[in-house]
Amino acid sequence: MTAPAPRPGIMDIRPYVGGESAIEGVSRIIKLSSNEGALGPSPKAVEAMRAMAGEIHRYPDGGAEELRQAIAERYGLDASRIVCGAGSDELLGILCRAYAGPGDEVLYSAHGFLMYAIAAKACGATPVTAPEVELTAHVDNLLAAVTPRTKILFLANPNNPTGTYLPASDVARLRAGLPEHVLLVIDAAYTEFVSRNDYTSGIELVEAGNNTVVCRTFSKMYALGGLRLGWAYGPENVAGVLNRVRNPFNVGSAALAAGLAAFNDTAYAELCKAHNDYWLPWIAERITALGLAVVPSVCNFILVRFPTEAGKDAASADKFLRSKGVIVRAMGAYGLGDCLRITIGTGEENTIVVETLAAFLSGGKAA
Ligand SMILES: Cc1ncc(COP(=O)(O)O)c(C=O)c1O
Repeated sequence: MTAPAPRPGIMDIRPYVGGESAIEGVSRIIKLSSNEGALGPSPKAVEAMRAMAGEIHRYPDGGAEELRQAIAERYGLDASRIVCGAGSDELLGILCRAYAGPGDEVLYSAHGFLMYAIAAKACGATPVTAPEVELTAHVDNLLAAVTPRTKILFLANPNNPTGTYLPASDVARLRAGLPEHVLLVIDAAYTEFVSRNDYTSGIELVEAGNNTVVCRTFSKMYALGGLRLGWAYGPENVAGVLNRVRNPFNVGSAALAAGLAAFNDTAYAELCKAHNDYWLPWIAERITALGLAVVPSVCNFILVRFPTEAGKDAASADKFLRSKGVIVRAMGAYGLGDCLRITIGTGEENTIVVETLAAFLSGGKAA
């Protein structure tokens, strides 16, 4: 019997593999593989979810009215141009489906977030990458890779898994150099962690035209990855497209309730930011002092490069860490097989990672 065939491109997708959370035979796991919030969600978000639990037979507010209003008020945005999604992943996928298809190209930098390739292939478009310089997106290289078939440019700013970012002036230069019909999608998933004067999430570029959209998430700073909540801010034309293509009830009521409570708990978000501000340099300095190369990060994770020498390499380090219950992220899928990505955890977790890496480098063997 002939099986139904998916559209061309679908079977080329390498399915996304999320960070692991368990190791057989190890009871205490330290999970630093998915850039989740180190301190967990705001207690107010958890309470809000509990409080609405008896109402989950009701459909959610498909327009996410209250949350959009709160976001608009905080950032001075037009609420009618905010669109919520089931994680920013959903919004990235919808943008691809709506603006690209077979014969079109979707462009991003060499070590851009993995979902861009998946979203491009899923809609039949061709993913195209531009070389980075020092593991950072490069404006001229991206512009040089634009062809008449380019429909979307995804820029994660800052980027996962490298942790690097482009200053606002570079992003503006990128926008100015792109043909007007190319949609620039600025994926600002880690924006809340960034403390740099020359950085912006890119909202000003959204306001300046009709061809730039910014995506944000509640999965990182707000630590609600399990609920799936993100939002996009675009010009009227792009918001209108997102609202046509998304499912009518794409964000669940628990996500909306917890998201609003987390968003309004600014004291907790500040605590999480302060935690990251302290531990990001702490862990980077100590791992550098161990003799490993750490890519400068403005996010809640670091990318660490290992020697290629057998027994000292990233795969051996990964194995050793796992034998001690520490799960970080192997980077082979990103073409960075000599690196591991480590999420900033609690103070205790960060200390254990550094100690475990020190033990590995001084000749420790995986159990
Ligand atoms: C750069 C980037 N964009 C988007 C996402 C997806 O986030 P969400 O949980 O909102 O789908 C991630 C998650 O790791 C990410 O690193």
